[in-house]
Amino acid sequence: MKVLATRQLPGPAWGDLEDVEVGVIDEPRADVEALIVANDTIDDAVLELFPALRLVASFSVGYDRIDVQACRVRGVAVTNTPGVLDAATADLAFALILATRRRLVEGDALVRTGRWSTDWSASPLLGRDVTGATLGIVGLGRIGSAVAHRARAFEMRVLYHQRTRAECAEVEYRELDDLLAESDIVSLHTPLNPATVGLISRERLSRLCDGATLVNTSRGAVVDEPALVDELVSGRIRAGLDVFVHEPHVPEVLRGLPNVVLTPHIASATSETRAAMARIVVDNILAAERGEPLPTPVRE
Ligand code: 8YV
Repeated sequence: MKVLATRQLPGPAWGDLEDVEVGVIDEPRADVEALIVANDTIDDAVLELFPALRLVASFSVGYDRIDVQACRVRGVAVTNTPGVLDAATADLAFALILATRRRLVEGDALVRTGRWSTDWSASPLLGRDVTGATLGIVGLGRIGSAVAHRARAFEMRVLYHQRTRAECAEVEYRELDDLLAESDIVSLHTPLNPATVGLISRERLSRLCDGATLVNTSRGAVVDEPALVDELVSGRIRAGLDVFVHEPHVPEVLRGLPNVVLTPHIASATSETRAAMARIVVDNILAAERGEPLPTPVRE
């Protein structure tokens, strides 16, 4: 099977592919039967360039950039990488919670400037507690549940919102507006789809209590980004953001704000996790080659 990848994937699984080429996906290719993509847009215009295509294997769990319906119409299967990045993503969400609440980046910057003084009143860097705080999780799927699991070790009260209620005594369901108003920290773990674009709207952001922290490791477009920027500029809330609407663009004003911690979409970026994601991508390609059922098909 002729495979075209937009980048070489990390880890040993890559070596199992026999006929793979790294290249661009904006030129016609009659020979390519499978694409390996990572946050690349796959729409009708791209599919048109690959008449022999049978599989789009995404190096991601989220597939919001792939037009799954357009693929189906053309008989092209789509696969993603569920299950193996839950822990890494939950760890980063917690890293952002801790960094934002405890002003880690500001503290680091202060030490590096050499202006650290033992006069605490000059630079108190007072943060907010994480232990014992109320955490609101939007989307209690695999990643949201992994965040809830970590929250228990921090003795947090955990609220959640999602379409279907969870059968779990340790987390309490709330309507979204109530969750936003009641939480000290809100962490977003919902996929991006037509129902969740702009879910955290300007009006909903205004429901967050003063001093609350918003953490986003899902997709930038789940939040009304200009409204979030306004809230952060006002200084009313804090945020830890790993994702943005137009990556790699980050709204310029955010770079100068002390109340936001910014990371470059690294939630799954550990050697172990990325190697496991690559294993799944390659296993899907190998299964397609052998005519076997795909291990992780996207069903929509
Ligand atoms: C990316 C992600 O896949 O899995 C997802 O949905 O957003 C990330 O893990 C990763 O950045 C590689 O493109």
